[in-house]
Amino acid sequence: MCGIIGVTGSADALDILLDGLERLEYRGYDSAGVVLIDDEGISRVRIADGTHSVATLRKVTPEADHGQPAGIGHTRWATHGHPSERNAHPHLDCSGHVALVHNGIIENHAEIAAELVAAGHTLASDTDTEVLAHLIEDALKTGLSLTEAVRRVLRDVRGAFALGVVSMDDPELIVAARRVSPLIIGALGGQSFLASDIPALLERTRDLMVLDDDQIAELRPGSIVVTTIDGVVVTPPPLHVTWDVEAAQMGGFDDFMTKEIHEQPQAIADTLRGRVDADGRIVLDQLDLSDDDLRAITQVSVVACGSSFHAGLVAKYAFERWMRLPVEVDIASEFRYRDPVLHENALVVGVSQSGETVDTLQAMRKARESGAKVIVVSNVVDSSMAREAHGVLYTHAGPEVGVAATKTVVAQIVALELLGLRIAQVRGTLSADEIATELAALGSMGAIVAEAIARDDAVARVAAELADAREFFFLGRGTGYPTALEGALKLKEISYLHAEGYPGGELKHGPLAVIEPGCVVVAVATGGPLKEKMLSNVAEVKSRGATVVLVVDDGDALAAASGDYVLRVPAAPVLMAPIKDVVPLQQFAYHLARARGLDVDRPRNLAKTVTVE
Ligand code: G6P
Repeated sequence: MCGIIGVTGSADALDILLDGLERLEYRGYDSAGVVLIDDEGISRVRIADGTHSVATLRKVTPEADHGQPAGIGHTRWATHGHPSERNAHPHLDCSGHVALVHNGIIENHAEIAAELVAAGHTLASDTDTEVLAHLIEDALKTGLSLTEAVRRVLRDVRGAFALGVVSMDDPELIVAARRVSPLIIGALGGQSFLASDIPALLERTRDLMVLDDDQIAELRPGSIVVTTIDGVVVTPPPLHVTWDVEAAQMGGFDDFMTKEIHEQPQAIADTLRGRVDADGRIVLDQLDLSDDDLRAITQVSVVACGSSFHAGLVAKYAFERWMRLPVEVDIASEFRYRDPVLHENALVVGVSQSGETVDTLQAMRKARESGAKVIVVSNVVDSSMAREAHGVLYTHAGPEVGVAATKTVVAQIVALELLGLRIAQVRGTLSADEIATELAALGSMGAIVAEAIARDDAVARVAAELADAREFFFLGRGTGYPTALEGALKLKEISYLHAEGYPGGELKHGPLAVIEPGCVVVAVATGGPLKEKMLSNVAEVKSRGATVVLVVDDGDALAAASGDYVLRVPAAPVLMAPIKDVVPLQQFAYHLARARGLDVDRPRNLAKTVTVE
């Protein structure tokens, strides 16, 4: 997830770009860059300075500013290629006449890059983006205008993009285009603007338009023409923004947690994007493990902390079913101080959204020393774990600001399940048809999660009824067990209420003694072979006076009848059910925390990234 911005027709082009990039930093800050353009030429400045990238860019850009009236800018959250100046946007074509900024992923970049290099182009970065500049360069050479060149190129690329493109041939013009990644445009008083998101432009204009998929906008000073990819002129519906800047940074949501809960379908789609080729082969290209390596694996060990540990627990069920290999999931701080038995052909999978959690990092180091193959599932490119592991599987959830993990957890489950299917594919433990069925199911999870998110009001009503409760148990069986653990953790983290997650079958071995009137039991009783057994456990706590909240699948009237309160979710295959069952539990924790007047994004005593033991 990156942020882009563009302006033409302004005496303050550079300031507009820099102010906008500051507002877009929440979308990533691995690097930042601008291009300023006029009849004299293109000036490009790029900085890779981590969290200070935009601030440093502001310090050094005055030298490049000669009052150029147009420019484009970018703040990067690295997906393809390390965070470095070389990979920072804007990217140029071979001649330096075309510059562009991009948010999204060009899925077929590798094959395009090979063709471009064979045709004599020189690529100056490791990004997926740069191929676009060279494709536009070739299209311009055939005599097309910049807009037509962009239109032609967009027909040949797969994936997601929001683009801003400029060319020396027509320096007042910015061509913007969008597929999947967000893009807004606006014109006011002789100036025209584009940006990834509203906050970047709010100080300039409140009257905007949202580009639709496969639409192309020609921005000239004070005027904008929008066409479809087929060249038909269209008028996007106007959007008048009434929020203030602070609210807009959170996309109109009250807080980052809500925003990030709503971003979960996108996180799922982005994590799946480009990972299955035309032959149905799962492509995890940064894994760095050959098919022979994958075939040789004799055991799998997952190490992680917090919510990432819960994602690992979900993966255990899928891994064992699909790969038929022994799988262990360990809390990293325990693993690193044990004497774990790792065979030579063990695969150790670290799971960490930050890629920096010290216990997980040390557990992975220990595994490496013992000779195991070590990979990491990380949301942050070039994190310490990503650098030290043999291979990396990135989740593409975008930056997560809320301390309590939401969208990164569902993205981790998706990434781990892709890994499980890849290994099963190579080992032949699932047939091609079975793999295709599982991939289709994973592919449908985004829509299912969106449907679950839309039921927030129903969850809020249940939370309001239970606002005075102080004691919570979360129960689940099978994949519902890690879901229950995650539900309890969310509640603890942001509401400071006492909550425990338990496997339903373990209840009678102790916890039942604590159950009494006033206790709330949240039970995950969605589909699967263990649902009836889960409902028996529910009957046990009800008979001891607990108040029961049930998470059940749509249409399951029988299960719903067992609860005092019911949270309904759309059904999904049991190995993927946690991806959507966790949604009402996130919302439940959220509403209980808000009812207590707490800051859901910054809970007391906790940190987003824990680099101490
Ligand atoms: C902290 C965060 C949790 C997170 C855990 C592991 O405790 O508050 O949300 O699950 O660290 O972090 P990691 O970055 O390794 O996934």
